[in-house]
Amino acid sequence: MRREHGIDAKPENVVVGPGAKVFELLFCEAFINPGDDALIFSPYFPTYIPNIQRRGGRIWTSDLKQSNAFRPEPAEVERFLKTAPRPKAIFLNSPHNPTGSVAEEADLKAITDLIRGKDVALLSDEPYDQMVWQGKHHSPLVQPGMMDQCVAAYTFSKSYSMSGWRAGFAVSSKPIIDRMGLLLNTSLSCVSPIVQLAAAAALDNDEKPRGEQMRAFRDKLFMLIAGLNTIPGFKCLEPRSTFYAFPNVAEVCNRLQITSHGLALYFLEGADEKFGVACLGGECFGPAGGGFLRFSCAEPDDKLQAAVAFVKQAITQTDKVAAYVAAHPEHKLATPYAT
Ligand SMILES: Cc1ncc(COP(=O)(O)O)c(C=O)c1O
Repeated sequence: MRREHGIDAKPENVVVGPGAKVFELLFCEAFINPGDDALIFSPYFPTYIPNIQRRGGRIWTSDLKQSNAFRPEPAEVERFLKTAPRPKAIFLNSPHNPTGSVAEEADLKAITDLIRGKDVALLSDEPYDQMVWQGKHHSPLVQPGMMDQCVAAYTFSKSYSMSGWRAGFAVSSKPIIDRMGLLLNTSLSCVSPIVQLAAAAALDNDEKPRGEQMRAFRDKLFMLIAGLNTIPGFKCLEPRSTFYAFPNVAEVCNRLQITSHGLALYFLEGADEKFGVACLGGECFGPAGGGFLRFSCAEPDDKLQAAVAFVKQAITQTDKVAAYVAAHPEHKLATPYAT
């Protein structure tokens, strides 16, 4: 943490868990009581909502905008603090799934300045900390006082491609980490030693191969985004992080009168009997994702190129799209997306 992110973490500031996701749950257990308000930026990682709801928390959303490179806006945090009856928790995720955005240091400084010293906790979900392709990853934990108010979650799932191993960790102040350790102990006991040893071996030995693998993801993402941007009506921002492309396809959806979720399913099962492309409609990540698609580039290059060619062709087959919508009327676009 010190070398890579400038975070002065000692062993008592770290707790190991089975991946990053469990820390959403433990954070909510530790900080959110029924009736407390929690802010999340939309589109969002889908498991935030049920974890907040399980604690009886109330959800406030703020839409990330493509015109602002999907960066979290400090003014939205200010509005939340001023208008929510019981503002208690904020969820931040940078680098961001699904948009591939990166919060700039100034964004994080302004946001943490707003909450410093208040009874408001920040979950900083940072699974893609090693996947920033422009600029640098910044954690809000380095901002003054944030060790006492912020929990940052990391994982081996992405940086070391160890998603099935279930290893991750959270960093925060000792009292918060002690509580989270107790919650983990009384529910999961621990992460099995063999997995912890594998994770430790990855940290000790795998920096070079990790760098090579991250660069391979970056090259794939640049290729995928360049390909998607050649499709009429698809608009991706320049790749900044993660292995996700998040094209705005509002124009295409409006023209074909199909939701973005419907368009994703059409690519998978409607456009061709033998071939399909798997991607997600942006609305799988909350209403602000409507009119977008999310593609992952974690596939061989030739498959990515074939997928782009397929999608380009599939949106020209207007009769097939119409037949798909007729057979699945739930995917008919009722109101056009803003373009
Ligand atoms: C934003 C975000 N948070 C959390 C996770 C969960 O990661 P893990 O596999 O380490 O639990 C993911 C995985 O896709 C993610 O994209």
